[in-house]
Formats: sequence, structure tokens, C-alpha cells
Amino acid sequence: MASGKLVVITGVTHGLGRAMAQEFARLGHTVLGCGRSQKEIDRLKDALGKPHDFHAVDVSQDDAVKSWASLCLAAHAPPDLLINNAGVINGNASLWEISEREFSQVVDVNVKGTANVIRHFAPAMVKRRSGVIVNFSSGWGRSTDAEVAPYCASKWAIEGLTQSLSQELPSGMAAVPLNPGIINTEMLQSAFGSSASNYPKADEWAKIAVPFLLKLGPQDNGRQLTVPIRGAND
Ligand SMILES: NC(=O)c1ccc[n+]([C@@H]2O[C@H](COP(=O)([O-])OP(=O)(O)OC[C@H]3O[C@@H](n4cnc5c(N)ncnc54)[C@H](OP(=O)(O)O)[C@@H]3O)[C@@H](O)[C@H]2O)c1
Repeated sequence: MASGKLVVITGVTHGLGRAMAQEFARLGHTVLGCGRSQKEIDRLKDALGKPHDFHAVDVSQDDAVKSWASLCLAAHAPPDLLINNAGVINGNASLWEISEREFSQVVDVNVKGTANVIRHFAPAMVKRRSGVIVNFSSGWGRSTDAEVAPYCASKWAIEGLTQSLSQELPSGMAAVPLNPGIINTEMLQSAFGSSASNYPKADEWAKIAVPFLLKLGPQDNGRQLTVPIRGAND
């Protein structure tokens, strides 16, 4: 569709990322996405078809992100919307019980992965002086709870990284830290156990989140935003 936007989303193989990919595509926008699971990437390719495109990429690997961005930017214009959604959470435990390996994994994906994606997509957007970069934060990027210290640290980092980025972008662009609310995905089930089922499913959430994302523009640069769903400010 000529009026459709080009949307790049990380972490499209499950949860919020997959629901967003499906909803953006349903509304006539073009989605380029990544996730680690090749099987799920192939399923998305089959389900959505062209012009959408999906690749197996681990965002914590800078070289892999660089190759993916080159492929996307060779075949398409710079994204109108770049959504850093890919994320992981530590298994519930006190900070002193969490291994260095698990702590590093959370930081490598949630913080450094976001920076890797920005490093390789933002220059084309900055050159064109348009586009919105949305970095997925969390309620736990603005408050804290026990047993999720690495995750909280990573999402507070996302808030700071995004505010700083918003001060670097040319006028016409925006960088936004976004709390998606509380949604029943595999990640929430890890943190909340069976009470995750009290929260909306990802496809219900996407019906509200995608129109909200499509309205973001330069006026939102640096704003700490939250998707307006039930429970988002709990
Ligand atoms: N659900 C909530 O209530 C909630 C609340 C606040 C914030 N969030 C944030 O929202 C985002 C999405 O969360 P979710 O609930 O949808 O989680 P999810 O169901 O666990 O999905 C996470 C997605 O990220 C991908 N991913 C993980 N590591 C990756 C890597 N290294 N490279 C590329 N992709 C990777 C996963 O796919 P692969 O395993 O295939 O790589 C999956 O597609 C996260 O940033 C999360 O912190 C969620």
C-alpha cells in the first residue's frame, strides 16, 4: 500500500513482537523483523508473505545486526518506525543468586542489542531526517520489584539511553522509551507465574498498541510513554 509505513521490529518470533508484526501487516504497513528462532521466522514469512521480510538475527551480535540492517536498507527505504522490542528477563531470583552469565545475557540483549540495532539503522534515518525509534522499556524501567534486578537495571538503562538519544536526533525525528503495559506473554509467565493469565493477550494488546505507535511523531521526542491498556500503570 503506497501510504503504508515501513516498520522494523526486533523480537517478532513470539509475544508482543509477533502480535505487532501481524497487526501492522493487517493494517497495510510493511514489516521487516528479526528474532533468533529460525523455525518461527520461517512461519512468519509463510504467514505474511512479501513485501514483509523476516530474518533470524540475534540482536546481541553486532555483526549479525549489521548484516541484517544492510540487507533491509538495500531493499527498502530507511524505516519510518524502528521498534526495539526484543528482550529477555532473568529467572526470578535475588541478585546475589544470579550468575554472571545470566546477568550478561539480560544486558547484552536488552541494552546492547538495542544499541546495536540503533547503530546500524539510525544513520539512514538521521540522513533522511525522519522516523521514530521506539525502545521497549517496562513498568520495571520506572519502578522496581524483588527478584528482577538484572531486568530492572536493563530497562532503567533503556530509559536513560533513549532520553540521551532523543537529545542527539535532528528535528523531525523522535526517540521514545515505551512501557507496553502488562501483557500475558511467555516473559510475563516467567515473572508472574499463573497470575499472568489475569492480563490481556498479545493480540488484544496489539489492537491498541499499533494505532498508538502509528501516531508517534517528532512531537513525542524524549517522552516517557505507556501504551494505554488496562493495568499499564500497576
Ligand atoms: N509482556 C509484558 O508484560 C511486558 C511488560 C513490560 C515490558 N515488556 C517488554 O516487551 C518486550 C517484548 O516482551 P514479550 O513479553 O513479548 O516477551 P517474549 O514473549 O519473551 O518475546 C520476546 C521476543 O524477543 C525475542 N528475542 C529474545 N532475545 C533475542 C535476541 N537476542 N535477538 C533477537 N530477538 C530476541 C524472542 O525471540 P527468540 O527467542 O526467537 O529470539 C521473542 O520474539 C520486551 O522488551 C519486554 O521487556 C513486556
